[in-house]
Amino acid sequence: MIDFLSSRLNMVFDMLPKEASSRKRVIDVGSDHGLFSLACLQTFDDVFCVCTDIHELPAKRTQQCLEENGYGLRVEVHNVDGLEGITLIPGDTIVMSGLGGNNIIHILHEVIPRTPIEVLKSVTFVLQPQKTFDGVRRFLTRNGFDIEDEVTCVDSKLHYFCIRSVFSGNAHELSSKDAFYGPILCKKFSQGDKDVRVYFDYLNKKYSYKSRSNNELRSLMEKEGLL
Ligand SMILES: C[S@@+](CC[C@H](N)C(=O)[O-])C[C@H]1O[C@@H](n2cnc3c(N)ncnc32)[C@H](O)[C@@H]1O
Repeated sequence: MIDFLSSRLNMVFDMLPKEASSRKRVIDVGSDHGLFSLACLQTFDDVFCVCTDIHELPAKRTQQCLEENGYGLRVEVHNVDGLEGITLIPGDTIVMSGLGGNNIIHILHEVIPRTPIEVLKSVTFVLQPQKTFDGVRRFLTRNGFDIEDEVTCVDSKLHYFCIRSVFSGNAHELSSKDAFYGPILCKKFSQGDKDVRVYFDYLNKKYSYKSRSNNELRSLMEKEGLL
């Protein structure tokens, strides 16, 4: 547990690959305050951080935070959209947390076609979308990514989840249920995971309200016996 990270960011941090060879560089997209990268640099002696932010002020904030903490030589900060201008290398871990789902899809859309398959296969994606989470899951699986793990947390009464995904080349279609709830979270739910139960209760309440104006969602929830 990193004391200066929120519960949400601790959840994301715990989803980083455990093996050092699988996280030679951590690329923190939308780094903002820089705290996530600070936690990486403090925890892993061998890691190099690449931070990007689309806005100038947060990019400067990141640079300042990491330099003030003595990590100026182990970090690069770019004021760019997503991963623009960043060439992925084997063993990279890409973290996108606190970004909207459509924004994450837009960033993935830009980087996937220009990255060689062999490099892509060695990259780990740790994603914590704020919205459009079903769209992110569908985008991943349709484009040959496997969802390796999913976790949830509650932070200041708000509910979040995080996905770890790797490219296998095995494109597949998720059922509506798996896209909405998450294939791994569904497995954990059926194994009696209490945190996932709390998260599903929250989703069911929130979307049963929203589904009044969304026919597709309403019929999915009816099918799942949630309405
Ligand atoms: C809500 S903050 C999240 C900060 C941090 N990642 C976290 O999880 O606490 C979103 C940050 O992402 C940046 N951002 C939004 N869209 C982006 C994009 N397409 N590329 C890079 N940065 C982006 C924003 O400027 C902002 O600093």
